[in-house]
Amino acid sequence: MADALPACLLDGALVPTHAARISPFDRGFLFGDGIYEVVPCYGGRPFRLQAHFDRLQAGLDALGIANPYSRLRWAELVRELIAANGAGDMGLYIEITRGCDSGRDFLPSPGMKPTVFGFCWRLAAMRSEQLERGISGATLEDIRWLRCDIKSTALLAAVLLRMEARRRGADEAILLRDGRLAEGSSSAVFVVKDGRVATPPANHERLPSITRLVVGEVLVVLGLPLEQREVLLDELYAADEIWIASATRETVPLAQLDGRAVGTGKAGPVWQRVFDEFQAFKKRETA
Ligand code: PDD
Repeated sequence: MADALPACLLDGALVPTHAARISPFDRGFLFGDGIYEVVPCYGGRPFRLQAHFDRLQAGLDALGIANPYSRLRWAELVRELIAANGAGDMGLYIEITRGCDSGRDFLPSPGMKPTVFGFCWRLAAMRSEQLERGISGATLEDIRWLRCDIKSTALLAAVLLRMEARRRGADEAILLRDGRLAEGSSSAVFVVKDGRVATPPANHERLPSITRLVVGEVLVVLGLPLEQREVLLDELYAADEIWIASATRETVPLAQLDGRAVGTGKAGPVWQRVFDEFQAFKKRETA
């Protein structure tokens, strides 16, 4: 785990990370009543910030929480937080909860003031040998709720699934609902067979991943079609390539699934093309 950098954002002000405090009566703490975003930053520049703000707004709307800041103010706060931590390549976390109540009731008091928290950590790119070797996945039944499209801070199921994957010696949990691919415990999933790339459609069963969006654009540039359709467990086992994608990991090939080799058992040629073009997108957009 990368440690949090020294400056964090709490309710509109930059404060030393070690001194940041919130009340235990915050509904984020008591109920997981909040949403979050993770934004990758390269050379101190956030990548696809507007798309992350769009998803943040959709989450706030779903929870009925008023956005405490305008986009302009958000962009300023993000810039200040990144600068206060020395810029460079970093992950940026933003959380908004419904706020701190006077006691504990499932029904929130009216007119609460949302709590806003943000922090950063150094983002270390995976080495090329690691990427070439790939990572491992374990398929597990998706035990999460039916609004996985909301980037909720209530992540207990994802935590338990990731722990179970680790217990099985795997790096990521690949989640299934009734034999259909949902997503990774904290990633989108792509499958390649005979040069065709597929990923399940965006709906309530999975997060609308921003990296998935970028990969879709990368595939257009490469002239490779992306099929958005249900993917079955058998297809995962028969795939030439499987990749996971997320803000902090970009795209990473799966070399093994449930102890079996995926394709040749190392990074595949389609993933390599996508990875290279993804780097070009990053460079262009954060120059
Ligand atoms: N998680 N699906 C789930 C369940 C996720 O938690 C994530 C990312 C993704 C990928 O979404 P994006 O491309 O927008 O990062 C898909 C973040 C990184 C996290 O919780 O740390």
